[in-house]
Amino acid sequence: MKRRDFVSLVSAAMGTSILGSCRKDWIETEALHEEMMTARGGGTVLTRYPLKIPTVVSPSGLILDSKLSTSDLGGGQFSNVWAYSYNGQIPVSFPGPTIRANRGDNVTIQLQNHLPEETITHWHGMIVNHENDGHPMHAIPPSSVAIPLSVLDYNYTINQRAALNWYHPHPHMLTGKQVYLGQAGAFIINDADELALGLPSGEYEVPLIIRDATLDSAKNLSYKPSAGGMFGKIPLVNGTISPYLAVKRAVYRFRILNGANSRVFGLALSNGATMKLIGNDGGLLTAASDLTRIEMANGERTDVLIDFRSILNGTNIMLRDLRAGWDLLEFRVNSASEGSPVSLPAPLSTIIPLTGPVTTREFSFDAMSKINGKEYDMDRIDWTVPFGVTERWRFKANGNGPHPVHVHGASFQVQSRTGGRGGLPFPWELGWKDTVLLEDFETVDVFIRFDAFRGKYLLHCHKLEHEDMGMMANFEVI
Ligand code: C2O
Ligand code: CU
Repeated sequence: MKRRDFVSLVSAAMGTSILGSCRKDWIETEALHEEMMTARGGGTVLTRYPLKIPTVVSPSGLILDSKLSTSDLGGGQFSNVWAYSYNGQIPVSFPGPTIRANRGDNVTIQLQNHLPEETITHWHGMIVNHENDGHPMHAIPPSSVAIPLSVLDYNYTINQRAALNWYHPHPHMLTGKQVYLGQAGAFIINDADELALGLPSGEYEVPLIIRDATLDSAKNLSYKPSAGGMFGKIPLVNGTISPYLAVKRAVYRFRILNGANSRVFGLALSNGATMKLIGNDGGLLTAASDLTRIEMANGERTDVLIDFRSILNGTNIMLRDLRAGWDLLEFRVNSASEGSPVSLPAPLSTIIPLTGPVTTREFSFDAMSKINGKEYDMDRIDWTVPFGVTERWRFKANGNGPHPVHVHGASFQVQSRTGGRGGLPFPWELGWKDTVLLEDFETVDVFIRFDAFRGKYLLHCHKLEHEDMGMMANFEVI
Protein backbone atom coordinates (compact mmCIF):
# COMPACT_ATOMS: atom_id res chain seq x y z
CA MET A 1 0.00 0.00 0.00
CA LYS A 2 1.45 3.34 -1.02
CA ARG A 3 1.18 6.27 1.29
CA ARG A 4 -0.03 8.38 -1.57
CA ASP A 5 -3.10 6.21 -1.81
CA PHE A 6 -4.39 7.52 1.45
CA VAL A 7 -4.18 11.21 0.91
CA SER A 8 -7.02 11.76 -1.50
CA LEU A 9 -10.34 12.22 0.17
CA VAL A 10 -13.61 12.08 -1.60
CA SER A 11 -16.77 13.48 -0.17
CA ALA A 12 -19.61 11.39 -1.49
CA ALA A 13 -22.01 13.84 0.05
CA MET A 14 -20.71 16.69 -2.07
CA GLY A 15 -20.00 14.57 -5.11
CA THR A 16 -16.72 16.40 -5.46
CA SER A 17 -13.45 16.83 -3.66
CA ILE A 18 -13.84 19.73 -1.29
CA LEU A 19 -10.80 18.95 0.72
CA GLY A 20 -7.82 20.17 -1.21
CA SER A 21 -4.70 18.23 -2.03
CA CYS A 22 -2.07 16.36 -0.11
CA ARG A 23 -1.04 17.92 3.16
CA LYS A 24 2.41 17.42 4.64
CA ASP A 25 1.19 16.77 8.14
CA TRP A 26 -0.78 13.80 6.85
CA ILE A 27 2.16 11.88 5.54
CA GLU A 28 3.26 8.91 7.56
CA THR A 29 6.27 9.73 9.69
CA GLU A 30 9.14 7.61 8.42
CA ALA A 31 11.02 7.64 11.71
CA LEU A 32 8.09 6.42 13.74
CA HIS A 33 7.33 3.81 11.14
CA GLU A 34 10.86 2.44 11.41
CA GLU A 35 10.64 2.45 15.18
CA MET A 36 7.44 0.46 14.98
CA MET A 37 8.92 -2.06 12.57
CA THR A 38 11.69 -2.66 15.08
CA ALA A 39 9.18 -2.98 17.87
CA ARG A 40 7.42 -5.60 15.80
CA GLY A 41 10.61 -7.60 15.79
CA GLY A 42 11.90 -6.57 12.38
CA GLY A 43 9.21 -8.29 10.39
CA THR A 44 8.63 -11.41 12.46
CA VAL A 45 4.99 -12.22 12.95
CA LEU A 46 3.50 -10.38 15.87
CA THR A 47 1.19 -12.24 18.22
CA ARG A 48 -2.22 -10.65 18.25
CA TYR A 49 -4.84 -10.85 20.98
CA PRO A 50 -8.64 -10.80 20.73
CA LEU A 51 -10.04 -7.29 20.95
CA LYS A 52 -11.68 -6.72 24.32
CA ILE A 53 -15.31 -5.66 24.06
CA PRO A 54 -16.45 -3.96 27.27
CA THR A 55 -19.67 -5.22 28.85
CA VAL A 56 -22.78 -3.16 28.08
CA VAL A 57 -24.55 -1.76 31.15
CA SER A 58 -27.58 0.38 31.86
CA PRO A 59 -27.07 3.75 33.55
CA SER A 60 -30.02 3.10 35.81
CA GLY A 61 -28.71 2.30 39.27
CA LEU A 62 -25.15 1.87 37.97
CA ILE A 63 -22.27 1.90 40.43
CA LEU A 64 -18.89 2.92 39.08
CA ASP A 65 -16.09 2.30 41.55
CA SER A 66 -12.79 3.99 40.71
CA LYS A 67 -10.01 1.81 42.01
CA LEU A 68 -6.49 0.52 41.68
CA SER A 69 -6.35 -2.92 40.15
CA THR A 70 -4.83 -4.91 37.32
CA SER A 71 -6.13 -5.62 33.84
CA ASP A 72 -5.15 -8.13 31.16
CA LEU A 73 -3.95 -6.18 28.13
CA GLY A 74 -3.93 -9.36 26.05
CA GLY A 75 -2.55 -12.89 26.39
CA GLY A 76 -2.29 -12.67 30.16
CA GLN A 77 -0.11 -9.54 30.18
CA PHE A 78 -1.40 -7.87 33.31
CA SER A 79 -0.83 -4.19 33.90
CA ASN A 80 -1.58 -2.00 36.89
CA VAL A 81 -4.52 0.26 36.10
CA TRP A 82 -6.74 2.79 37.78
CA ALA A 83 -10.04 1.71 36.34
CA TYR A 84 -13.75 1.50 36.97
CA SER A 85 -15.33 -1.60 38.34
CA TYR A 86 -19.10 -1.63 37.92
CA ASN A 87 -21.88 -2.95 40.11
CA GLY A 88 -19.41 -4.68 42.40
CA GLN A 89 -17.92 -6.77 39.58
CA ILE A 90 -14.40 -8.11 39.92
CA PRO A 91 -12.13 -7.50 38.07
CA VAL A 92 -12.19 -3.89 36.94
CA SER A 93 -13.17 -3.06 33.39
CA PHE A 94 -10.48 -1.44 31.24
CA PRO A 95 -11.89 0.38 29.34
CA GLY A 96 -14.94 1.07 31.51
CA PRO A 97 -18.21 -0.70 30.72
CA THR A 98 -20.16 0.62 27.74
CA ILE A 99 -23.13 2.51 29.12
CA ARG A 100 -26.12 2.27 26.80
CA ALA A 101 -29.46 4.02 27.14
CA ASN A 102 -32.31 5.53 25.19
CA ARG A 103 -33.20 9.15 24.86
CA GLY A 104 -35.64 9.91 27.68
CA ASP A 105 -34.06 7.42 30.09
CA ASN A 106 -33.11 8.45 33.58
CA VAL A 107 -29.49 8.15 34.63
CA THR A 108 -28.73 7.29 38.26
CA ILE A 109 -25.06 6.56 38.67
CA GLN A 110 -23.06 6.43 41.86
CA LEU A 111 -19.36 7.17 41.58
CA GLN A 112 -17.28 5.65 44.37
CA ASN A 113 -13.74 6.82 44.95
CA HIS A 114 -11.19 4.22 45.99
CA LEU A 115 -8.29 6.03 44.34
CA PRO A 116 -5.57 7.59 46.52
CA GLU A 117 -6.66 11.08 45.38
CA GLU A 118 -9.73 13.10 44.51
CA THR A 119 -11.73 12.32 41.40
CA ILE A 120 -14.89 13.26 39.53
CA THR A 121 -16.49 11.73 36.43
CA HIS A 122 -17.57 13.88 33.50
CA TRP A 123 -20.00 12.70 30.80
CA HIS A 124 -18.30 14.02 27.69
CA GLY A 125 -20.92 15.02 25.12
CA MET A 126 -23.87 14.62 27.47
CA ILE A 127 -25.94 17.77 27.85
CA VAL A 128 -26.63 17.85 31.57
CA ASN A 129 -26.99 20.52 34.22
CA HIS A 130 -23.99 21.93 36.07
CA GLU A 131 -24.54 19.75 39.15
CA ASN A 132 -24.31 16.57 37.05
CA ASP A 133 -21.61 17.70 34.62
CA GLY A 134 -18.62 16.46 36.57
CA HIS A 135 -17.10 19.91 36.96
CA PRO A 136 -13.75 19.76 38.83
CA MET A 137 -15.25 21.85 41.64
CA HIS A 138 -17.41 18.84 42.51
CA ALA A 139 -14.49 16.41 42.87
CA ILE A 140 -14.86 13.99 45.76
CA PRO A 141 -12.02 13.09 48.15
CA PRO A 142 -10.57 9.59 48.37
CA SER A 143 -12.26 7.17 50.74
CA SER A 144 -10.48 7.17 54.09
CA VAL A 145 -10.92 6.35 57.75
CA ALA A 146 -12.93 9.55 58.12
CA ILE A 147 -14.98 8.90 54.95
CA PRO A 148 -15.11 5.10 54.56
CA LEU A 149 -16.98 5.38 51.26
CA SER A 150 -16.59 8.62 49.33
CA VAL A 151 -19.36 8.82 46.72
CA LEU A 152 -21.06 11.17 44.30
CA ASP A 153 -24.57 10.48 43.03
CA TYR A 154 -25.53 11.61 39.55
CA ASN A 155 -29.14 11.89 38.53
CA TYR A 156 -30.25 13.29 35.18
CA THR A 157 -32.50 12.56 32.24
CA ILE A 158 -31.09 11.99 28.76
CA ASN A 159 -32.57 14.54 26.41
CA GLN A 160 -30.47 14.64 23.25
CA ARG A 161 -30.12 12.78 19.98
CA ALA A 162 -28.50 9.37 19.51
CA ALA A 163 -24.72 9.56 19.72
CA LEU A 164 -21.56 7.99 21.05
CA ASN A 165 -20.49 9.97 24.08
CA TRP A 166 -18.02 8.92 26.73
CA TYR A 167 -17.12 9.30 30.36
CA HIS A 168 -13.83 10.01 32.06
CA PRO A 169 -12.41 11.74 35.16
CA HIS A 170 -12.12 15.53 35.32
CA PRO A 171 -10.39 16.49 38.60
CA HIS A 172 -8.33 19.65 38.32
CA MET A 173 -4.72 18.90 37.33
CA LEU A 174 -5.23 15.13 37.65
CA THR A 175 -7.34 14.39 34.57
CA GLY A 176 -4.45 13.31 32.34
CA LYS A 177 -3.11 10.78 34.79
CA GLN A 178 -6.48 9.30 35.71
CA VAL A 179 -7.66 8.91 32.12
CA TYR A 180 -4.32 7.49 31.06
CA LEU A 181 -4.30 4.88 33.82
CA GLY A 182 -7.56 3.47 32.59
CA GLN A 183 -10.66 5.44 33.46
CA ALA A 184 -12.67 5.99 30.30
CA GLY A 185 -15.65 4.28 28.76
CA ALA A 186 -18.22 4.67 26.01
CA PHE A 187 -21.71 6.06 26.66
CA ILE A 188 -24.04 5.27 23.76
CA ILE A 189 -27.40 6.97 23.41
CA ASN A 190 -30.01 5.44 21.11
CA ASP A 191 -33.18 7.07 19.81
CA ALA A 192 -36.13 6.22 17.56
CA ASP A 193 -34.77 8.10 14.51
CA GLU A 194 -31.55 6.10 14.58
CA LEU A 195 -33.34 2.80 15.26
CA ALA A 196 -35.50 3.33 12.16
CA LEU A 197 -32.38 3.23 9.96
CA GLY A 198 -31.73 -0.42 10.80
CA LEU A 199 -27.98 0.13 11.16
CA PRO A 200 -25.76 -2.87 11.99
CA SER A 201 -26.27 -3.84 15.62
CA GLY A 202 -25.46 -6.55 18.12
CA GLU A 203 -22.16 -8.21 17.21
CA TYR A 204 -22.02 -5.97 14.12
CA GLU A 205 -21.81 -2.77 16.19
CA VAL A 206 -18.44 -2.48 17.87
CA PRO A 207 -17.10 0.36 20.02
CA LEU A 208 -13.40 1.12 19.47
CA ILE A 209 -11.61 3.24 22.04
CA ILE A 210 -8.27 4.01 20.47
CA ARG A 211 -5.43 5.45 22.55
CA ASP A 212 -1.72 5.11 23.14
CA ALA A 213 0.35 4.02 26.10
CA THR A 214 3.87 3.37 27.29
CA LEU A 215 4.59 0.30 29.36
CA ASP A 216 7.44 0.31 31.87
CA SER A 217 9.86 -2.60 32.34
CA ALA A 218 7.32 -4.36 34.57
CA LYS A 219 4.76 -3.93 31.76
CA ASN A 220 2.67 -1.49 33.74
CA LEU A 221 1.11 1.63 32.23
CA SER A 222 3.60 4.38 32.84
CA TYR A 223 2.41 7.99 32.92
CA LYS A 224 5.36 10.29 32.23
CA PRO A 225 4.05 13.26 30.29
CA SER A 226 6.09 16.14 28.98
CA ALA A 227 4.74 19.68 28.73
CA GLY A 228 3.90 18.88 25.12
CA GLY A 229 1.65 16.03 26.19
CA MET A 230 1.71 12.32 26.87
CA PHE A 231 2.71 10.37 23.80
CA GLY A 232 2.70 6.63 24.37
CA LYS A 233 4.92 4.27 22.41
CA ILE A 234 2.25 1.74 21.48
CA PRO A 235 -1.43 1.83 20.56
CA LEU A 236 -4.16 0.17 22.61
CA VAL A 237 -7.64 -0.47 21.28
CA ASN A 238 -10.23 -1.20 23.96
CA GLY A 239 -7.34 -1.68 26.37
CA THR A 240 -5.89 -4.46 24.19
CA ILE A 241 -2.30 -4.68 22.90
CA SER A 242 -1.98 -5.72 19.22
CA PRO A 243 -5.65 -6.63 18.93
CA TYR A 244 -7.52 -8.52 16.26
CA LEU A 245 -11.23 -8.86 15.64
CA ALA A 246 -12.75 -11.79 13.76
CA VAL A 247 -15.36 -10.37 11.38
CA LYS A 248 -17.90 -11.93 9.07
CA ARG A 249 -18.34 -10.92 5.44
CA ALA A 250 -20.84 -8.28 6.46
CA VAL A 251 -21.22 -4.55 7.08
CA TYR A 252 -20.02 -3.50 10.51
CA ARG A 253 -20.69 -0.32 12.43
CA PHE A 254 -17.69 0.92 14.41
CA ARG A 255 -18.27 3.53 17.10
CA ILE A 256 -14.82 5.07 17.36
CA LEU A 257 -13.46 7.29 20.12
CA ASN A 258 -10.01 8.81 20.22
CA GLY A 259 -9.42 8.21 23.92
CA ALA A 260 -5.73 9.18 23.84
CA ASN A 261 -4.42 11.92 26.12
CA SER A 262 -2.58 13.83 23.42
CA ARG A 263 -2.29 11.92 20.20
CA VAL A 264 -4.23 12.65 17.01
CA PHE A 265 -4.93 9.64 14.78
CA GLY A 266 -5.29 9.46 10.98
CA LEU A 267 -7.36 6.33 10.44
CA ALA A 268 -7.21 4.29 7.24
CA LEU A 269 -7.59 0.71 6.08
CA SER A 270 -4.55 -1.20 4.84
CA ASN A 271 -6.34 -2.29 1.66
CA GLY A 272 -7.07 1.33 0.76
CA ALA A 273 -10.82 0.73 0.94
CA THR A 274 -13.15 3.51 1.95
CA MET A 275 -14.90 3.74 5.27
CA LYS A 276 -18.41 5.14 5.26
CA LEU A 277 -18.60 7.96 7.78
CA ILE A 278 -22.18 8.32 9.05
CA GLY A 279 -21.81 10.20 12.31
CA ASN A 280 -19.56 12.03 14.73
CA ASP A 281 -19.60 13.62 18.21
CA GLY A 282 -23.21 14.74 18.12
CA GLY A 283 -24.72 11.76 16.31
CA LEU A 284 -25.67 11.03 12.71
CA LEU A 285 -24.68 13.37 9.90
CA THR A 286 -27.16 14.46 7.26
CA ALA A 287 -25.26 12.48 4.63
CA ALA A 288 -22.69 9.70 4.59
CA SER A 289 -19.19 10.19 3.15
CA ASP A 290 -16.90 7.52 1.75
CA LEU A 291 -13.42 8.30 3.03
CA THR A 292 -10.05 6.63 2.78
CA ARG A 293 -8.75 8.59 5.75
CA ILE A 294 -10.38 10.06 8.84
CA GLU A 295 -8.58 12.37 11.28
CA MET A 296 -9.54 12.07 14.91
CA ALA A 297 -8.26 14.30 17.68
CA ASN A 298 -8.49 13.27 21.30
CA GLY A 299 -12.06 13.41 22.53
CA GLU A 300 -13.58 13.23 19.03
CA ARG A 301 -15.88 10.39 17.96
CA THR A 302 -16.79 8.96 14.57
CA ASP A 303 -19.45 6.49 13.50
CA VAL A 304 -18.16 4.43 10.60
CA LEU A 305 -19.48 1.58 8.46
CA ILE A 306 -16.94 -0.86 7.04
CA ASP A 307 -18.12 -3.29 4.40
CA PHE A 308 -16.32 -6.64 4.49
CA ARG A 309 -18.81 -8.37 2.17
CA SER A 310 -16.58 -8.44 -0.89
CA ILE A 311 -13.46 -9.46 1.04
CA LEU A 312 -12.22 -12.99 0.50
CA ASN A 313 -12.66 -15.35 3.39
CA GLY A 314 -9.34 -15.67 5.22
CA THR A 315 -8.12 -12.15 4.42
CA ASN A 316 -6.69 -9.86 7.10
CA ILE A 317 -7.17 -6.10 6.87
CA MET A 318 -5.48 -3.65 9.19
CA LEU A 319 -6.97 -0.50 10.64
CA ARG A 320 -3.99 1.80 10.67
CA ASP A 321 -2.93 5.16 12.06
CA LEU A 322 -1.13 6.97 9.27
CA ARG A 323 0.23 9.69 11.52
CA ALA A 324 2.41 7.39 13.61
CA GLY A 325 2.49 4.60 11.03
CA TRP A 326 0.87 2.24 13.50
CA ASP A 327 -1.13 -0.92 13.04
CA LEU A 328 -4.13 -0.46 15.33
CA LEU A 329 -6.50 -3.37 14.83
CA GLU A 330 -6.46 -6.37 12.52
CA PHE A 331 -9.75 -7.50 11.04
CA ARG A 332 -9.70 -11.23 10.28
CA VAL A 333 -12.40 -12.01 7.77
CA ASN A 334 -13.69 -15.50 8.46
CA SER A 335 -17.05 -16.40 7.03
CA ALA A 336 -18.02 -18.04 3.80
CA SER A 337 -21.38 -16.44 3.19
CA GLU A 338 -21.94 -12.81 2.43
CA GLY A 339 -24.15 -10.65 4.66
CA SER A 340 -26.78 -8.28 3.34
CA PRO A 341 -26.04 -4.72 2.28
CA VAL A 342 -27.03 -1.73 4.38
CA SER A 343 -29.08 0.85 2.55
CA LEU A 344 -29.07 4.33 3.95
CA PRO A 345 -31.82 6.86 3.38
CA ALA A 346 -31.05 10.37 2.20
CA PRO A 347 -30.95 12.42 4.23
CA LEU A 348 -29.58 10.22 6.97
CA SER A 349 -30.82 12.61 9.63
CA THR A 350 -32.05 16.14 10.00
CA ILE A 351 -29.80 18.83 11.38
CA ILE A 352 -31.08 22.37 11.59
CA PRO A 353 -28.21 24.79 10.99
CA LEU A 354 -27.56 27.42 13.63
CA THR A 355 -27.66 30.86 12.02
CA GLY A 356 -27.47 34.56 12.81
CA PRO A 357 -24.96 34.74 15.66
CA VAL A 358 -25.49 37.84 17.76
CA THR A 359 -22.07 37.92 19.39
CA THR A 360 -18.56 36.90 18.37
CA ARG A 361 -16.18 35.77 21.09
CA GLU A 362 -12.52 35.06 20.46
CA PHE A 363 -10.47 32.51 22.33
CA SER A 364 -6.78 32.17 21.75
CA PHE A 365 -5.09 28.98 22.87
CA ASP A 366 -1.77 30.33 24.05
CA ALA A 367 1.40 28.38 24.76
CA MET A 368 0.51 25.15 26.56
CA SER A 369 -1.51 26.35 29.52
CA LYS A 370 -3.53 29.45 28.72
CA ILE A 371 -6.72 30.62 27.05
CA ASN A 372 -6.74 34.34 26.23
CA GLY A 373 -3.54 34.70 28.25
CA LYS A 374 -4.95 33.20 31.43
CA GLU A 375 -4.47 29.93 33.23
CA TYR A 376 -7.46 28.17 34.72
CA ASP A 377 -8.78 29.38 38.05
CA MET A 378 -11.58 27.26 39.49
CA ASP A 379 -13.16 30.30 41.15
CA ARG A 380 -13.07 32.66 38.20
CA ILE A 381 -15.89 32.95 35.65
CA ASP A 382 -14.32 34.35 32.50
CA TRP A 383 -17.47 35.26 30.58
CA THR A 384 -21.21 34.85 30.68
CA VAL A 385 -23.38 33.63 27.84
CA PRO A 386 -27.06 34.45 27.43
CA PHE A 387 -29.31 31.37 27.41
CA GLY A 388 -30.84 30.38 24.08
CA VAL A 389 -28.88 32.77 21.86
CA THR A 390 -26.65 31.72 18.96
CA GLU A 391 -23.07 33.00 19.20
CA ARG A 392 -19.98 32.73 17.04
CA TRP A 393 -16.99 31.39 18.97
CA ARG A 394 -13.65 31.83 17.25
CA PHE A 395 -10.88 29.50 18.40
CA LYS A 396 -7.30 30.44 17.52
CA ALA A 397 -4.19 28.34 18.00
CA ASN A 398 -0.99 30.27 18.52
CA GLY A 399 1.40 27.34 18.20
CA ASN A 400 2.16 24.43 20.54
CA GLY A 401 -0.72 22.56 18.93
CA PRO A 402 -2.56 20.48 18.21
CA HIS A 403 -5.24 21.78 20.56
CA PRO A 404 -8.52 19.86 20.37
CA VAL A 405 -11.02 22.39 21.72
CA HIS A 406 -13.91 21.02 23.79
CA VAL A 407 -16.97 22.76 25.20
CA HIS A 408 -19.28 21.47 27.95
CA GLY A 409 -23.00 22.19 28.07
CA ALA A 410 -23.84 22.42 24.35
CA SER A 411 -22.84 21.08 20.95
CA PHE A 412 -21.68 23.44 18.22
CA GLN A 413 -21.56 23.58 14.43
CA VAL A 414 -18.21 24.18 12.73
CA GLN A 415 -18.38 27.02 10.21
CA SER A 416 -14.90 27.52 8.83
CA ARG A 417 -11.19 27.08 9.29
CA THR A 418 -8.48 29.49 8.21
CA GLY A 419 -4.70 29.04 8.40
CA GLY A 420 -3.15 25.59 8.59
CA ARG A 421 -5.51 23.10 6.94
CA GLY A 422 -7.82 26.00 6.13
CA GLY A 423 -10.97 25.62 4.09
CA LEU A 424 -14.37 24.09 4.53
CA PRO A 425 -14.90 21.84 7.53
CA PHE A 426 -13.86 18.23 6.97
CA PRO A 427 -16.67 15.67 6.54
CA TRP A 428 -16.16 14.51 10.14
CA GLU A 429 -16.62 18.09 11.32
CA LEU A 430 -20.10 18.58 9.88
CA GLY A 431 -23.26 18.26 11.97
CA TRP A 432 -23.06 18.56 15.75
CA LYS A 433 -19.68 18.63 17.44
CA ASP A 434 -18.38 19.12 20.95
CA THR A 435 -14.66 18.84 20.18
CA VAL A 436 -12.79 20.33 17.22
CA LEU A 437 -9.14 20.08 16.28
CA LEU A 438 -6.99 23.20 16.03
CA GLU A 439 -3.63 22.56 14.48
CA ASP A 440 -0.94 25.23 14.84
CA PHE A 441 -2.00 28.67 13.64
CA GLU A 442 -5.48 27.56 12.65
CA THR A 443 -8.57 29.60 13.42
CA VAL A 444 -11.85 27.72 13.60
CA ASP A 445 -15.25 29.45 13.80
CA VAL A 446 -18.19 27.61 15.32
CA PHE A 447 -21.79 28.58 16.03
CA ILE A 448 -23.04 27.57 19.45
CA ARG A 449 -26.25 28.00 21.42
CA PHE A 450 -26.84 26.97 25.02
CA ASP A 451 -30.49 26.11 25.16
CA ALA A 452 -30.64 23.29 27.68
CA PHE A 453 -29.40 24.58 31.05
CA ARG A 454 -28.15 27.69 32.75
CA GLY A 455 -25.04 27.26 34.88
CA LYS A 456 -21.28 26.97 34.97
CA TYR A 457 -19.53 25.04 32.23
CA LEU A 458 -16.04 24.56 30.84
CA LEU A 459 -14.13 25.37 27.68
CA HIS A 460 -10.78 23.60 27.43
CA CYS A 461 -8.10 21.99 25.37
CA HIS A 462 -8.68 18.22 25.31
CA LYS A 463 -4.99 17.53 25.12
CA LEU A 464 -5.23 16.43 28.73
CA GLU A 465 -1.77 17.64 29.70
CA HIS A 466 -2.62 21.14 28.41
CA GLU A 467 -5.91 20.99 30.28
CA ASP A 468 -4.15 19.97 33.49
CA MET A 469 -1.63 22.79 33.11
CA GLY A 470 -4.48 25.29 32.92
CA MET A 471 -5.68 25.56 29.31
CA MET A 472 -9.24 25.64 30.57
CA ALA A 473 -11.80 28.29 31.47
CA ASN A 474 -15.12 28.57 33.32
CA PHE A 475 -18.06 30.39 31.77
CA GLU A 476 -21.61 30.72 32.92
CA VAL A 477 -24.82 30.45 30.93
CA ILE A 478 -27.25 32.98 32.42
CU1 C2O B 1 -13.76 15.05 27.73
CU2 C2O B 1 -14.04 18.56 29.82
O1 C2O B 1 -13.83 16.79 28.86
CU1 CU C 1 -3.78 22.39 23.89
